[in-house]
Amino acid sequence: MKIDILTLFPESFAPFEESIIQRARKKGAIQINVIDIRTFSKDKHKKCDDTPFGGGAGMLMSVQPVYDAVASVKKKSSKVIYPSPSGQVFSSQMAKELAKQKHLIFICGHYEGIDQRLIDIFDAQEISIGDYVLTGGEIPTMAIVDALSRFVPGVISEESLQEESFSNGLLEHPQYTRPRVFQGREVPKVLLSGNHQKIKEFQLQESLKKTKKVRPDLLKGEK
Ligand code: ADE
Repeated sequence: MKIDILTLFPESFAPFEESIIQRARKKGAIQINVIDIRTFSKDKHKKCDDTPFGGGAGMLMSVQPVYDAVASVKKKSSKVIYPSPSGQVFSSQMAKELAKQKHLIFICGHYEGIDQRLIDIFDAQEISIGDYVLTGGEIPTMAIVDALSRFVPGVISEESLQEESFSNGLLEHPQYTRPRVFQGREVPKVLLSGNHQKIKEFQLQESLKKTKKVRPDLLKGEK
């Protein structure tokens, strides 16, 4: 899986040089290139913003550098993603689908966003990470790339994927490690019993309890 991230702020992606994502990059399971859109600007001051037609607050990203940056990496089989609060809300299912692609290109919007024609020309999929507005597309891109990478074979173990939240439509049950008693609070006894059948049943009940309390919409099939 190859991922090209187009941004005005390449240093924002330092977290991808740590931990699980960095390991996956080193192993070759995923290839991530961060590309500075500003280097494509033909403006003599490398300007990358412009005023919106029709007026309104703020600036848009200039069309030319964004277009040229995408065109420099796009192949026939590439899928272009534009994180935006106007997009379809991201989910674990979408992450799984995106993980099947060969090549993803992310356009990180800034200022008030990008020209609609860029979205249309590149048939970009708009994805929102939730009903709130962030200052740019870097954090949403990081969240989407991180979540989909976990579904790329070789990035994390199959077992971890099966035990986590949303894998069975429920939130994950609470987890415990040593010590057995911490600040007077004991680990549930069944987890120390060695009875795997009982442990599984307990964890499923805890999952259901938590989902009912925190995300009842998941149980009603609303999400
Ligand atoms: N850009 C700004 N806010 C966003 C959001 N909630 N989701 C995706 N991209 C965004």
